[in-house]
Amino acid sequence: MTLTSLGVPSIRTPTPDPADAPTAGPLLDTFGRAATDLRVSLTDRCNLRCTYCMPAEGLDWLPADDLLRPDELARLITIAVTRLGITNVRFTGGEPLVSRTLEGAIAVATALRPRPETSITTNGIGLARRAAGLKAAGLDRVNVSLDTVDADRFARITRRHRLGDVLEGLAAAHAVGLTPVKVNAVLDPESGLDDAVSLLRFCLDHGYQLRIIEQMPLDAGHRWRRDQTLDADRILDALRRHFDLQPDTAERGSAPAQLWRVDGGPGVVGVIASVSHAFCGACDRTRLTADGQVRSCLFSREETDLRLLMRRGADDDAVEAAWRAAMWAKPAGHGINDPGFVQPVRPMSAIGG
Ligand code: 5AD
Ligand code: SF4
Repeated sequence: MTLTSLGVPSIRTPTPDPADAPTAGPLLDTFGRAATDLRVSLTDRCNLRCTYCMPAEGLDWLPADDLLRPDELARLITIAVTRLGITNVRFTGGEPLVSRTLEGAIAVATALRPRPETSITTNGIGLARRAAGLKAAGLDRVNVSLDTVDADRFARITRRHRLGDVLEGLAAAHAVGLTPVKVNAVLDPESGLDDAVSLLRFCLDHGYQLRIIEQMPLDAGHRWRRDQTLDADRILDALRRHFDLQPDTAERGSAPAQLWRVDGGPGVVGVIASVSHAFCGACDRTRLTADGQVRSCLFSREETDLRLLMRRGADDDAVEAAWRAAMWAKPAGHGINDPGFVQPVRPMSAIGG
């Protein structure tokens, strides 16, 4: 059994003209994909410095005046859910727990009807303290980023000695019912195959679901090289030396992770082959940055400035139309494997994973 690829879509109307974007109904693009999953980055700041993401000294953070205010963010989430058909809202960063607006934004989202599912992607630091409050605000699930369960390697990868905090955060999320708790791992090119095996054992033991993500060219330093990353096939080969993996028969839909049942189940492991087996053809995402820009794709080179529109007094119809026009022009896929690929200007930490 090999990995299946959802590929990139190939049939489209000629050049997307913003004037042709639908004025109601689903948030469509010219390939017929409908975005139902909103990723909201709350801040570009982070309290870790993962080597594949940020330099040791951090980055030039977005100026405070450029960040969406809580009322502006609430307005955009409301437009997304009540007008654009968004059914899932995921809060990311940078590190979303660094933002004090997180619980309020979750409460806004979960008070809407139809109520969207809510989740966060976090590095887990501070999660132990906040888990109960997040649950009370209406949060449904968490994804915790963790690339190794070895304390020294954790410190080497993240440049901080915080493994214990992350493990406490995971346990607290599980205890308060922010489940299924998922663990996202981006593997280190040198120790990653060993890390994958011990991460999977750890996750099976604790009832967390491991998802291993191929590293994408979204580092601030633009140093990514495909031949220096571990691809899904190598990761699966390494896991198969220690576990029996059978393809999980559940419908994959637009979910990026291909799931494998481990040792007969019930445990599963997901592998997100974003580079080697792109799944852009099934993409259902729209993204909002902390400074109020809509991105139709992680790898977009264009953004639509909803913050400026709102601050100039645009009404909800105008904001909705601008969002629809941005998504109508969504590119077919990331093009990472094309010779002319150009990495986006913003790093992952300023887009949101
Ligand atoms: N490629 C793939 N995943 C990445 N992440 C951060 N940078 C990259 C990258 N270049 C992951 C983090 C986290 C989520 C937000 O995205 O590890 O799990
Ligand atoms: Fe979607 Fe873009 Fe990611 Fe492809 S690269 S899955 S189109 S966000």
